[in-house]
Amino acid sequence: MNNTQTNTGSKLLPVEPFDIVVFGATGDLALRKLLPALFHRWRDGQIPQDCKIIGAARSAMSQADFIARVEEHYRTYFPEEKNGADDWKAFSEHLHYCALDVASTDADWSALETRLADRDDKIRVFYLALPPSLFGPVSANIGAHKLNTPKARIVLEKPIGHDLHSARAINDAVGRVFPEESIFRIDHYLGKETVQNLLILRFTNSLFEPVWNSNVVDHVQITVAETVGAGERASYYDTSGALRDMVQNHMLQLLCLVAMEPPNDFAADTIRDEKIKVLRALRPITPKTATRDTVRGQYRDGAIGGKAVPGYDDELGRNSDTETFTALKAYVDNWRWSGVPFYLRTGKRMKERRSEIMIQFKRVAHPLTAPEAGHLHPTRLVIRLQPDEGVKLLLMTKDPGPGGMRLRYVPLNLSYADTFCARYPDAYERVLMAVVRNDLGLFMRRDEVEAAWGWIDGILSAWNADEMPCQSYAAGTDGPTQSAMLIDRDGREWFDDL
Ligand code: BG6
Repeated sequence: MNNTQTNTGSKLLPVEPFDIVVFGATGDLALRKLLPALFHRWRDGQIPQDCKIIGAARSAMSQADFIARVEEHYRTYFPEEKNGADDWKAFSEHLHYCALDVASTDADWSALETRLADRDDKIRVFYLALPPSLFGPVSANIGAHKLNTPKARIVLEKPIGHDLHSARAINDAVGRVFPEESIFRIDHYLGKETVQNLLILRFTNSLFEPVWNSNVVDHVQITVAETVGAGERASYYDTSGALRDMVQNHMLQLLCLVAMEPPNDFAADTIRDEKIKVLRALRPITPKTATRDTVRGQYRDGAIGGKAVPGYDDELGRNSDTETFTALKAYVDNWRWSGVPFYLRTGKRMKERRSEIMIQFKRVAHPLTAPEAGHLHPTRLVIRLQPDEGVKLLLMTKDPGPGGMRLRYVPLNLSYADTFCARYPDAYERVLMAVVRNDLGLFMRRDEVEAAWGWIDGILSAWNADEMPCQSYAAGTDGPTQSAMLIDRDGREWFDDL
């Protein structure tokens, strides 16, 4: 295939031929996200002919079985994609499989070495879809087998550790083999179309910058609500919880993009320099403030969309104190955001899947309309990340027609579905190609990851010191009532879509 247009109508940036080794190739992430993403990029004509996609995992399996497994999972996860067998056959010519115990020092890496032989001049991507405890050992093995060629890059899936200490140890271990500019720490939220658009929205429209500060903004809300539960990932999830799984990375990255100062340009390090300033300005949450400003919750059984779902403990098969929901109030202590609360909440098994950022502006200083005209709502800017991607500006208007002055609260609505075409690449498609193109802007730098952990560690130790209980909430709701109370105490409420 040699298209230059994706089916979004946008232009494809050509990439150089590359090889990618996916460690953990039979795991959930590889089968559900990475390999389908590569297939989609191939189908859109972005994967050059001379590319090898090498799956590495512990199971002994033939190449044919591996290919069949990849295809079978693709068809399960993308039932709407009716791809012809020919496409799969052609794509699978790029697929290879290596059985390899990646962590073991005396494992036989020769199969992988053979696959990569005589290809040192190509871009080489090592994608570690593995638990973070393996990042150091796998890097060491790559180094020991001299596979880290000058054009090699390593991609680390989150989480990078489970606290600051472990994150530093991982960064040190990987850093012994790969220089920082070859380390791509993934936060797939940065690859989402709507998240990328945040920078464009803020910094290419002169409307926003003058009002983007504590003089005009009342507060900011960031919500990432999911309807899925921990499910099959429960045993991993139980070692993590919502704070580590979602807030430390995705939600803090969103907060950074909302709060950061305008960068001088869109170069990777310029943006990352601005983001880290935000992370460093986050007011620490202490044992004294944690009880008031944070909430932990865990779902019990309930119903979502009319379907009964089990509680977290039942999915896990034992009692657990891990939070599947968290809400918190944060402050960015700098000139721009002084006194503006950032309310964050995320949870599993919530009533609907909805990720969005809401910026609420202050009320007008002197309302002119009579109370009978209707309630005066504040101006709100809502950036919907998923689903129904789009941007809405909620405004007061006069209800048209005779009958006096009546007020209506209505959205100016930029819906991606209506404005752009149907499919744009998934976040993983974008981040994978960004690795190949060496575009570090979508990835977290070491200091960012560590600064984020530093702040999260404060919350974790406050929770431990206070033995903060997990409040239960029924699956299919907005989380525990304590979450509503957290914001209600400030005379505000969580934003629910119009
Ligand atoms: C992952 C978390 O990073 O992000 C998962 O580990 C979560 O628990 C997922 O479900 C959410 O991603 P998305 O793209 O579906 O919003």
